[in-house]
Amino acid sequence: MQTVLDLHQRPLRSLRVSVTDRCNLRCSYCMPEEEYTWLERDHLLRFGQLTEVVRAATLVGTRRVRLTGGEPLLRRELWRLVEQLAALELEDLALTTNGVHLAQQVETLAQAGLDRVTISLDTLRPERFRKLTRRDALEPTLAGIEAAVQALPGRVKINTVLMAGVNDDEVHDLLAWAQDLGCELRFIEYMDVEGATRWSASRVLPASELLRRLDQAHGPVEAAETSTSAPARRYRLGSGQTFGVVASTTAPFCGSCDRARLTADGHLFTCLYGAEGLDLGAPLRAGEGAPELARRIRTAWAARTDRGAEERLARPDREASLTEAHTLRSAPQREMHTKGG
Ligand code: GTP
Ligand code: 5AD
Ligand code: SF4
Repeated sequence: MQTVLDLHQRPLRSLRVSVTDRCNLRCSYCMPEEEYTWLERDHLLRFGQLTEVVRAATLVGTRRVRLTGGEPLLRRELWRLVEQLAALELEDLALTTNGVHLAQQVETLAQAGLDRVTISLDTLRPERFRKLTRRDALEPTLAGIEAAVQALPGRVKINTVLMAGVNDDEVHDLLAWAQDLGCELRFIEYMDVEGATRWSASRVLPASELLRRLDQAHGPVEAAETSTSAPARRYRLGSGQTFGVVASTTAPFCGSCDRARLTADGHLFTCLYGAEGLDLGAPLRAGEGAPELARRIRTAWAARTDRGAEERLARPDREASLTEAHTLRSAPQREMHTKGG
């Protein structure tokens, strides 16, 4: 195996594979519009094709894979893909889901070889959940989380996107709930990614402010051990409870970013903020296998200069640089729910 470094000496260690652009929720920070242009159905990669791309990525050094969406559990029999990917003997095979269909599937997924699951949950209040996601689904989500804790004990994380004036009054409730359940909670700053067309700087709760509030309420918050490339920094409360903070908006981690993303129709993006992906779907359909695809991935990664989140941070008027919904309608691969969260 020959690893590849980009122009900032960053390796390609992790691949996020979006298996569908469809979602059964409509979170306001991700899918705020009424209408979307969906990827072309007959361009969606089959499980065998997705596995071939992952195999190609392993040939240039990828060791960690995360399945995402849209909502990945909408893809029929996802466990079959998990089984194929588990055979590649990765270091880590994880899933990010909204949890709505998790209770029915998590045991099968764990048996198929899934190592870890991360579930998105932004509120514990049914009415607020409905408002934030435009669906009435708190109950099945919580059932999914509980089932995950049973099936994958110690390997479940919760992602909470905090929005100032929207759900930042639930920080303490969410921490107490996660402590009872035995899961690590990660607070994520609201990001101005493509698709977040209603983003506004005033809705971002900076990690520094969150930590200040926690310090005030719980006593000194200490830094805990953090892996160097993971987006989350970890902290410990006086009670011993640990939690994570993903400060992608106010303190981007582009310098150590080792991840690429694959859309469900086979476009490879080397940055969450990237406007254009490398189409691996066409060569796959033309019969290319892992060695040829690996060469394409290597060439793209070797030329990579992306520092999307840092560039956004440097712009004086971030609102003005948001991509408009009509532009995204003609470039659906750029949407956050297509690129895989
Ligand atoms: P672990 O392997 O458990 O640490 O997971 P992870 O943090 O890689 O995955 P997860 O899907 O939980 O990501 C957490 C959040 O971090 C995402 O939902 C995004 O909001 C943000 N995030 C993930 N990848 C990127 C990235 O490449 N750039 C930026 N700026 N933010 C990202
Ligand atoms: N800001 C922050 N996180 C986002 N996600 C989607 N859109 C945004 C955004 N605008 C992330 C959430 C969710 C995951 C699937 O995608 O963390 O948990
Ligand atoms: Fe929400 Fe995830 Fe669906 Fe986006 S893809 S609307 S964040 S559940």
